[in-house]
Formats: sequence, structure tokens, C-alpha cells
Amino acid sequence: VPTPARTLAFRILLDLERAQAPTLADRLARADVEGLDPRERGFLHELVLGTLRTRGLLDHALRPLIDRPFEGLDAGARAALRLGAHQVLSLRVPDRAAVSESVDLVRDTAPRAAGFVNAVLRRLVREGPPPVPDPAADPLGWLTSAGSLPAWLAQRWLARLGPETAVARARAFLERPPSVFRLNPRREDASARVEEAGLAPRPLDVPGAWEASAGQPAALAADGVLYLQDQGSQMVAHLAAGAGRHLDACAAPGSKSTLLGDLVAGRGTVAALEVAPRRLATLTGMVRGWGAANVSVLGGDAARPPFRPGSFDAVLLDAPCSGLGTLGRHPDIRWRATGEGLARHAERQRGLLAAVAPLVRPGGTLVYAVCSQEPEESAAVVAAFLEAHPAFRSGTAPPWAAGFADGPFLATRPERDRGDAFFAAPLVRA
Ligand SMILES: C[S@@+](CC[C@H](N)C(=O)[O-])C[C@H]1O[C@@H](n2cnc3c(N)ncnc32)[C@H](O)[C@@H]1O
Repeated sequence: VPTPARTLAFRILLDLERAQAPTLADRLARADVEGLDPRERGFLHELVLGTLRTRGLLDHALRPLIDRPFEGLDAGARAALRLGAHQVLSLRVPDRAAVSESVDLVRDTAPRAAGFVNAVLRRLVREGPPPVPDPAADPLGWLTSAGSLPAWLAQRWLARLGPETAVARARAFLERPPSVFRLNPRREDASARVEEAGLAPRPLDVPGAWEASAGQPAALAADGVLYLQDQGSQMVAHLAAGAGRHLDACAAPGSKSTLLGDLVAGRGTVAALEVAPRRLATLTGMVRGWGAANVSVLGGDAARPPFRPGSFDAVLLDAPCSGLGTLGRHPDIRWRATGEGLARHAERQRGLLAAVAPLVRPGGTLVYAVCSQEPEESAAVVAAFLEAHPAFRSGTAPPWAAGFADGPFLATRPERDRGDAFFAAPLVRA
């Protein structure tokens, strides 16, 4: 009988393939995962995240062992093969258990594929994986195998970033992102607790952002002493912080609203707006739990914002996007995103930016941000906006952000900064 972690990992991979879970993060938050004992849950995460993160490499190893197109196989057979191959190639588990449990798993969903899965995985154990293409000689071949990118994305990055950076970025996204956090300013003992927990914090370029170079910050995060947040995400909140009234127009789960609240404490307030009811509840919980007294939460649609024009000194639009800058954290996104999806996001982002811009008072700040650097949803949205709104122009960034400059915009670069690839455009209204 397969272990609970393997059974659930298989089910989750199938749910994602069959679009029965919108995202991996949502799926991992469900009761069947939460209910596992911590060791099994750790193993489950390793199985699912590892399989999705290295799927390109796993498929590269499996393809030569299969006499028909891999994509044409039954979804259950594909999931069992990938899960088995990940254990055989990357995890320290006995090959026999990896193979036999994968066979048992597929027996339930596609009994006729059990013999086939058994034969392929046993051959993989016997023969080992084929070599991967050399990244310098064949960057596209490397990106779509060891780099674990779908072909359309690999081609895009090659054209936009050039082979060296595209390979370095894909490599960075194969790593677990660093544990970056900020402290709760209302917890006087926060620094001492961090020291005590042995996190050995290292300051990053964004003020107040720390990387834990050792230890486990999860317990302190659960206790509200610190908040785990990527450096790029923290940078975005800093860009919008000033005095007076702030609007975070797309606010859940509240990472940027709460940081913005802390940054402007004593001189400003934050209205945190969110349209999705379930996410609104998460946002409310986050704001309360963090103790951000100057942040008020509102349900509403940023496309039809419930505020009068000019009522804010600063507006942050952290728009819904493809999430293609967060592949290290969310390895499922690389297999879900599409070029058409980018076009749909871009249309919505342009609409949202045009809808919230009038809320900025003359002389005020507008920040547009996305956790993606695909041009359609980043620079192109801003360029189209500036062309249609002559009252706005690019703003300046604070001196500490100089290293993140990307023309008039700001960008975190996973191959240099590790973590997410954020895009931000600080704008000002004349
Ligand atoms: C990228 S996430 C925001 C992350 C958040 N700023 C943070 O740092 O924690 C985008 C959010 O916008 C919300 N959203 C999407 N369309 C919206 C709209 N028309 N009005 C308000 N919120 C919207 C989504 O439900 C999602 O919670």
C-alpha cells in the first residue's frame, strides 16, 4: 500500500493536470494535506514541489524509454511516471519503493497502465537518465530539459534575456527561494527572538528586509514576530509609502498592505481593497493578526473603485498577473501559464490601471506592480497607460533601489537577487 504522502502527491498532480485545483498553493491548503502528520507532509511537499519543479528534466529522462508520445499517455500514467522518476533521480528513497508504489498508484486510476509504468521505471533505474544538452551549445535544449521550462517560455526568455541570463534565471528558479522576512515593529522582542531562534539574519538591499541564513523562521512567523515576504514584494510596498492616505487596490492576502501600514505609521493610513470574498477574509485576518491599526480593509472592485477622484496621496496597484516571476515558489505556474493567458491578464491590468489612476491626487504617487516580467503585463501596460494619460510620468526611486533599476522601472532579478522576479513602475501625477 503506498504511503499517505505518495498517495496524496499522486492525487494532487492529477488534480492539477485535470484543472480540479486552480493552483498548487490552493491545493496544498486543503484539509487532506493539512491533516497529514508533519513528517508525511514534509515528504509530500518534497514529492509534489520537486516533481513540478523538475518536470522538464523528468520528461527528458522518460521520453527515450517510451515508444509513443509522452503527452498522449493517460494522465494517471504520466503522473505516476513523473512521481516515480523524481524519486529515482533526485530523492534518497530506495528505488524499489519508488517503482512499486508508483505502480500501485496507477493501478487504481488506470489499471491497464500498471505494467507499462513498471517497465519504464525499472528501465530508468537500470539505465539511468540520458545526458542533458550543454547550456552554452544548446541553450534551448537545456532550458526545456534541465531548465524545466515549457518550450514557449524558453523561447521567449531566450529572445528577451539572451542565452546566458535565460539559463541563469531558469537555474535560479530550480532552487528553493530564500527565507526573506521583515519584523513586526510592534514586537519589541522581535530582534532578540530572531537571534534566539538562530536565524543568523543577513540584511538585504531593501530596508528592513532580512534573509534567514540558518534555522527555521516558520514558528516566529506563526507567532506574528516576523512576516515572510520576498524582497521584491517588500520593495513594491516601499515605493508607495509616503504621508497621508494610501490605497492598496488589489490587497489580499495583505503582504504589501501591512508593510505599507508599518512604513507610514504615525503619518498615514492605508485602505486595503479586495474583490474576492474568500481572499477578503484572509486579508482581514492578516491585517488583524499583524496588528496593523492604520490599515482598514474594504470589499470592492478596483475596476469600479468606491472612492472619489483624487482622494489618495498614493495608490498601489499590485495587479493580478500570470505569476511567471514566482516560479521558484510556485513551480506549477510554469506548466499552467500560456501566451493567451498573458494577453488576457494584460487587458485586465490595463483596465485596472486606468480605473485607479484618477484616485491619485495631483502631485501624488501611483505604483504599478506585478510578480512577472513578461513585457505584455509589465512595461507594455505602463507604456500604454502613460501614452493615454499625459498627466502621469515616471517617478524616481529611492537611492537604496538603484541596484534594481531597469530603465525607468524596477526589477528584482532571481539570477542575482534570488527569490521572485518582481516588476514595479513608480509613477507620479503632475
Ligand atoms: C497579486 S494579488 C495581490 C497581492 C497583495 N497585494 C499582497 O502583496 O499580498 C492580486 C489580488 O487582486 C485581487 N483582485 C483581482 N481583481 C480585482 C479587482 N477588480 N478589484 C480588487 N481586487 C482584485 C485578487 O483577488 C488578488 O487577491
